Amino acid sequence: MKRIGVLTSGGDAPGMNAAIRAVVRNGIYKKLEVMGIRHGFLGTIKNTYHKMVRGSVADIIHRGGTVLQTARCDEFLSPAGRAQAAENIRKAGIDGLVIIGGDGSMRGAQLLEQEQDIPVACVPATIDNDVGRTDFCIGFDTAMNTVIDAVNKIRDTATSHERIFVVEVMGRQRGFLTLHAGLAAGAESIVIPERPLSIDDICKKLEHGFKRGKKHSIIMVAEGVGGDFQVNRDLYQSKAFSLAEDISRQVGRETRVIILGHLQRGGNPSARDRILASRMGAHAVDLLLTGEKSVMSGVVHEQLVHTSIELALAEEPALNKEMLELAHILSL
Ligand code: F6P
Repeated sequence: MKRIGVLTSGGDAPGMNAAIRAVVRNGIYKKLEVMGIRHGFLGTIKNTYHKMVRGSVADIIHRGGTVLQTARCDEFLSPAGRAQAAENIRKAGIDGLVIIGGDGSMRGAQLLEQEQDIPVACVPATIDNDVGRTDFCIGFDTAMNTVIDAVNKIRDTATSHERIFVVEVMGRQRGFLTLHAGLAAGAESIVIPERPLSIDDICKKLEHGFKRGKKHSIIMVAEGVGGDFQVNRDLYQSKAFSLAEDISRQVGRETRVIILGHLQRGGNPSARDRILASRMGAHAVDLLLTGEKSVMSGVVHEQLVHTSIELALAEEPALNKEMLELAHILSL
């Protein structure tokens, strides 16, 4: 292997830049040429290949977003699109690809290798943290801290006005971000697709809190609650507003809604994400060099591991039930 390519794909996640830096610098250290590909898989079709040197990734470890930019690419969903991509990759003299992204990107990577025999190594990066065979994905820790910071601010207003706030958190159809941030932020109720609460459950808890003198309440709800999320994001309607209305009607208190939205994806990566990204980015290059097929780098109990993309996608990560129970007990 003489030349590798690197791209970021799907939703951006803080720490992607640190991963790109690690791929480029470890690749060059291991005597490889490294080509950056802009705009994810779309760039493999549109020929956005460009040589990267150590200086290309200077001063990016602390920056959110991705300097290679990213895209969701419809053309790549078809075998013809992937064949075109493979032809271009070969023409660019690229012997293997590092793909930094979430589960959708990994699915694309797997197909590229299966159909076109282009070696791929994936680095899991998504604030949703919904990839199997790794404890953490790049971006999750930073997003969690962003959510906590937002809830800290909301709490000031909630207390001053004695209001209930419903805070909607990203995560697609999984509740990892909502659960972890909810426990750390001391939310009164955590509503996630894996364990949706009924309005009655939520209101009972609110009444109980108000009786013992609570001045406010924060209810964290995952965007995936309600079920239709997976079908089509463009048609997705937030459940937070109807939830807030129902609560307000039932407990007779002012309720406000905050959709945290895309601010959860931006910002400087946390120390944990920078370290994770540096380790997994460099690891992915080593995996390509050792000839691993259709592989993903991951971290389990702080140790780097590698696994097949197939298993990472097949094994849904389990939600920590003990954390969910604890969040409930501590907020009673
Ligand atoms: O997968 C990351 C994520 O931020 C999800 O949490 C969210 O549902 C989705 O991407 C938003 O996608 P887009 O940026 O395309 O609207």
